[in-house]
Amino acid sequence: MQMDDENEEIAIPDYRTIENCEIKVPGPCCLILFGASGDLAQRKILPSLYRLMYNRLLPPEFFILGSARTPLTDRQFRGLMKEAVAAAFPGTIDEGLWERLAEKLYYIQADYSSFSSFVSLKDRIASLEKVHRTAGNRILYLAIPPDAYETVIAHLGPAGLSGEDEGYAHVVIEKPIGRDLASAQGLNGVLRSVFRERQVYRMDHYLAKETVQNVLMFRFANSIFEPLWDRRYIDHVQITVSETVGVEHRAGYYERAGVIRDMFQNHLFQLLALTAMEPPAAFEAERVRDEKSKVFRSVRPLSPDALEATVVLGQYAGGTVGGNPVVGYREEPGIPPDSVVPTYAAMKVCIDNWRWHGVPFYLRSGKRLAARKAEIAIQFRPVPHLMFMPHITEAISPNALVLRIQPEEGVSIFFQAKKQGSRVCLDPVEMNFTYQKTVNLDAYERILLDCMEGDQMLFVREDAVEITWSLLTPLLERIGQPAGQGSFPDYAAGSSGPAAADLLINRDGRQWRPL
Ligand code: BG6
Repeated sequence: MQMDDENEEIAIPDYRTIENCEIKVPGPCCLILFGASGDLAQRKILPSLYRLMYNRLLPPEFFILGSARTPLTDRQFRGLMKEAVAAAFPGTIDEGLWERLAEKLYYIQADYSSFSSFVSLKDRIASLEKVHRTAGNRILYLAIPPDAYETVIAHLGPAGLSGEDEGYAHVVIEKPIGRDLASAQGLNGVLRSVFRERQVYRMDHYLAKETVQNVLMFRFANSIFEPLWDRRYIDHVQITVSETVGVEHRAGYYERAGVIRDMFQNHLFQLLALTAMEPPAAFEAERVRDEKSKVFRSVRPLSPDALEATVVLGQYAGGTVGGNPVVGYREEPGIPPDSVVPTYAAMKVCIDNWRWHGVPFYLRSGKRLAARKAEIAIQFRPVPHLMFMPHITEAISPNALVLRIQPEEGVSIFFQAKKQGSRVCLDPVEMNFTYQKTVNLDAYERILLDCMEGDQMLFVREDAVEITWSLLTPLLERIGQPAGQGSFPDYAAGSSGPAAADLLINRDGRQWRPL
């Protein structure tokens, strides 16, 4: 603190330098963690808070109040959270550091269906706020099953937990934000009745990945790419998020979701928007989110009558991944043996605006594929006249620019170069930029800090959620009918997906990049 001219106390922002990067330490606040004994809290949130503490990025005036149905004392809760952090960082947990975090951890049992639980919660928060001097700033993190969102949100308002009289109240929710347009509108309506949009942080962990944030930097901090970034030079775009993992331990969730809800409505469409958007006038949350919403509004609706030509769905059979035999989706624990839930989709998306007219975006994502890879590939047009044609025997591949999101995060440019020594012979070559260091903040650390800072740039706005659902709901309705279901399983685990996905792009005279 320091005094200004009128002798009032003003806060001087505190910064930490981590791997040559200046990061601001947020001001006083508390984190109210709903679902504190659950999987998300234990696997992601507590380990991220521990790392923030390790990097001295948590404000000194801070506390965490966990709540869940399970009866636990503060002491038992601390023990449980210590186990979770130790499991996330095996063998490396620093006892002294843990003790300092543990001193800020509290617990209250709650029954989310009962309003009196929220009254008790509010009283407990008020008393802890006095102890930790957190200035009334509250983050309400709903790490609870999505079907409990509406009940909890509806109680937060009347309990006086959404007001901002003393400090801010930010609410964080994770996907799935609804399961179709109507349910997303319903949830947004409940949120709107209790919070203002600027208080709502809808998280998409892909947006918090360093390399996804780099898409904006790469496009709008360099002048040489933007003139090429449209229908005159780009033939098509491929966005791939392939995974080697299967459904893991999430059968119940995945059976209700499937790949379109799990990956397309959020992660893949966000990557599409970052690739296709116009330059925002300012690097500000609202300006960036305006441009993304404009992209979504320009996406040509998938015509229910022509779905076969634009969407391919698949489900994995048994196979071999990374040299190990794995079972098919229908044999996974908790999955019905006749499940018709898709674990793979490929989709051709057209954007009806001047920039992208006639440039298809091919999106694909699936589980149990040959490789773990997330990338955005910009495929340029071939040269208009290839004067070397009489001298070379093979067609040459056009230029491509690939933004590699994971693994081997970086950027590659593919071009043709003369093969040395030959008279006329071309070789495709790759120029590579690879990030050397591991990222300094993981996605959950980033979103926790941004939420404390009140920066909504990496969070999804209400309108974007609804437009993306409105684009995908006809497809989901079709999948829900027997006629819309494929004959599954149709791709072997460890392969590059169903053969029909190749046809989708080959029909247009193009090919998928290898996984
Ligand atoms: C989640 C999906 O949102 O993203 C998972 O629910 C998926 O099914 C995961 O495995 C992929 O994220 P990442 O960061 O591992 O690419």
